[in-house]
Amino acid sequence: MAGIRPLVRALRAYVPGEQPKIPGLVKLNTNENPYPPSPRVLRAVKAAVDGRLRLYPDPTAQPLREKLAKLHGCRPGNIIVGNGSDELLAMAVRAFVEPRTGAVQWFRPSYSLYPVLARMHGAREAGAPLEPDFSLPALAKLRRTRSWRFDAALTLVTTPNAPSGRGYATAELDALSRSLKGVVVLDEAYVDFGPENALSLALKRPNVLVARTFSKAYSLCFQRVGYFVGPAALVAALDKIRDSYNVNGLGQVAALATLDDLPWYRRNFRRVIATRGRLGRGLEDQGFRGLPSATNFILARPPRFPAKAWLARLRARKILVRWFDLPEVRDYLRITVGTDSEVDALLAASRAILSKGR
Ligand SMILES: Cc1ncc(COP(=O)(O)O)c(C=O)c1O
Repeated sequence: MAGIRPLVRALRAYVPGEQPKIPGLVKLNTNENPYPPSPRVLRAVKAAVDGRLRLYPDPTAQPLREKLAKLHGCRPGNIIVGNGSDELLAMAVRAFVEPRTGAVQWFRPSYSLYPVLARMHGAREAGAPLEPDFSLPALAKLRRTRSWRFDAALTLVTTPNAPSGRGYATAELDALSRSLKGVVVLDEAYVDFGPENALSLALKRPNVLVARTFSKAYSLCFQRVGYFVGPAALVAALDKIRDSYNVNGLGQVAALATLDDLPWYRRNFRRVIATRGRLGRGLEDQGFRGLPSATNFILARPPRFPAKAWLARLRARKILVRWFDLPEVRDYLRITVGTDSEVDALLAASRAILSKGR
């Protein structure tokens, strides 16, 4: 088609998990929190829906940055808020990577948006596979890996990893970040479900940004609020290319109210973690090989039939999980930790599939 840039013509768009509205469907495919936002957050959002919707929201989400700065022990200048962390990841590519000559890299497998962002920008792509158990390769091994670039303009690390669920130690991420010349984004979308986080690195290293989101742990996917924490110079650079009103007003209201109710959310993390344990044990009992998870999902290798066939068979029983057509994880299903009853429904469906052979 005339008028469309060749790069865009050739681009394969990111494929998000399905959002079907089928009554009775157990939706365990996009890592949403099974619990709603706190009653306080819902009240705050409802109270904000009035004539003020005609006004623009705070352009820099300043009150939210101030509150986040307090929470993380830094300054508002160390924080930038985005329309979900996805927006900020895209901005990082635009702010830190020269098209054509600059490289973006990531470990494989990681968040499947990264290659799309690199290609959209016309950047070079680099990276290395994770180890077979999804741990990070040792630095000595990366030095021997020709496709890994210690001079990459931008390195994106999903930590804990998605889709495997594996968590990484802060010391290991620190050593990795120190070995890299360019900017490193530690994408901690799922970190609240794991034992440790690497936020301290964003406040200590000149090249490290930590990405967080209100989507998963804080039940606000619908509102699209994420943020980066990091060195003021990197944050200021991102801020220059930010759309004027990038974070919608109700999202800011919801995120602010969330920060006033953190104990409520921490209780939910504990519930999700307990259910994750039940899900893992239930799957093992049926012959699935589940990987240890520091997130709100489990990557598991199903028995008897190919993972893709399991996807279809579970769907026929109104259970939706995720399967990725990627070489490293083609034999696995990624299953979001739902409520206890959703997990029971999944386990009942998989038991029935195994006993009926379909
Ligand atoms: C690793 C990772 N990072 C970032 C995101 C995006 O989160 P947000 O909703 O804040 O854009 C996701 C969402 O699936 C994710 O899995």
